[in-house]
Amino acid sequence: MRRYHVQTFGCQMNAHDSERIKGMLEDIGLGEATSADDADVIVFNTCTIREKPDTKLASYLGAAAARKREDPSRVIAVGGCYAEAQRDRIFSLYPAVDVAFGPGSIAHLGDWLGAGGVGVARGAFGLDDRAFAAALPTHRERPFQAWVQVSMGCNSTCSYCIVPAVRGREQSRTPGEILAEVTQLAQGGVKELTLLGQNVNSWGRDLVPAIQTEFGELLRACDAVEGIERIRFTSPHPKDFRDPVIAAMAECDAVCEQIHLPLQSGSARILKAMRRTYTPERYLALVEKLRAAIPDVAFGTDIIVGFPGETEEDFAGTLAVVEQVGFDSAFTFVYSPRNGTDAATMEEQVPHEVKIERMERLVEVTQRHARERNESRVGRVEEVLVEGPSRTEETVLRGRTRRNTTVNFTGTADAGTLVPVLIESATSTTLRGTQEALVGAAN
Ligand code: SAH
Ligand code: SF4
Ligand code: F3S
Repeated sequence: MRRYHVQTFGCQMNAHDSERIKGMLEDIGLGEATSADDADVIVFNTCTIREKPDTKLASYLGAAAARKREDPSRVIAVGGCYAEAQRDRIFSLYPAVDVAFGPGSIAHLGDWLGAGGVGVARGAFGLDDRAFAAALPTHRERPFQAWVQVSMGCNSTCSYCIVPAVRGREQSRTPGEILAEVTQLAQGGVKELTLLGQNVNSWGRDLVPAIQTEFGELLRACDAVEGIERIRFTSPHPKDFRDPVIAAMAECDAVCEQIHLPLQSGSARILKAMRRTYTPERYLALVEKLRAAIPDVAFGTDIIVGFPGETEEDFAGTLAVVEQVGFDSAFTFVYSPRNGTDAATMEEQVPHEVKIERMERLVEVTQRHARERNESRVGRVEEVLVEGPSRTEETVLRGRTRRNTTVNFTGTADAGTLVPVLIESATSTTLRGTQEALVGAAN
């Protein structure tokens, strides 16, 4: 049997696409290889959000091409956002690539690879024929957690962002389709759902005929599905976060007390140039509203430093908002110009050293907050969904709290169960603790 390896770059959307790529490869008769080295078919599911994933792919592809020279029966496929962005030159850039396809064409991968994955066609791109892959076979890592796509593409026009160009306009799945998938997942043992969309809060607005529902209703409907214990979603755009969603979050037991709310910048001027369509004040007011409605809610965020024209004063605005919110976690990015986006050709690109220096100052603050927020959990008992043994210590278990913090703990629970854990110490990224029942037994 020929074997495959899928190497995934980028966001959760891509990770979810990779589950479907794996499912399809198994459908055409391939088995999973233990590593890229012993794979007959290697698929790169790529990202192009910043320059870094592009260069990382180049080095991975170099290694794959070398293995292909040793054994020409090996097949290399490149899919995802980078492939779509480079659709006109992907084969000339990387002659070792046999099959290439965009994120809108995943459903056809099996046709291009052919039975046994021998590589029979070169692939396809384009976003017109995007098929929701819900009906496709899926290979999930853990039986108790699942991603569910609520929409694909994005209708926003953030001036720095390549996603609308490579994933197309927003297209929502119908509530019926989503709930059928959620029900089926729950019946199969899934306890935790993460609803995925570039802007989950605009879900449904594009459906024809128009539906009288919005994201809050979808949260309530998922909450009502028997067996679903936890619901998360990513990402909501601050501009579209309306009251019904806040109310649904507050009232649904399964919806976790955790929100990933991308800030991008704390300067009104830069937010405008980014076309985010909110001000720092509006963002802060939303945070306040969410905190009032959902006690103990954890906030994560994305921040870009060094957007074109960002002055020291603009950056100080970002630091001020960050100080005011006190994020539980933050992904911080140095602005990376992307071909074809408006920001890439803006004058006043910020020099690299300035970006790096601001980044260091920002990370210092976000890490301090993350550590303090985690330390404030010490002494509490948190509900943890057990994911398995810890990555580094086999005798220690690992799981996640409802607020989405990783916990390493001593205990005896099986993966997929929910257990109470007493939190005993914290770093900026993880908590440590002991499963409650054991603490009780020791006394
Ligand atoms: N749809 C999601 C974001 C997807 S991209 C949302 O709007 O929340 C994930 C993050 O990458 C963005 O939130 C942004 O912070 C960052 N990002 C996007 N384009 C970037 C660029 N050109 N340079 C640096 N960071 C970027
Ligand atoms: Fe990109 Fe903005 Fe759409 Fe997010 S909302 S995917 S940052 S264009
Ligand atoms: Fe995701 Fe990267 Fe594409 S962040 S949407 S995989 S460009």
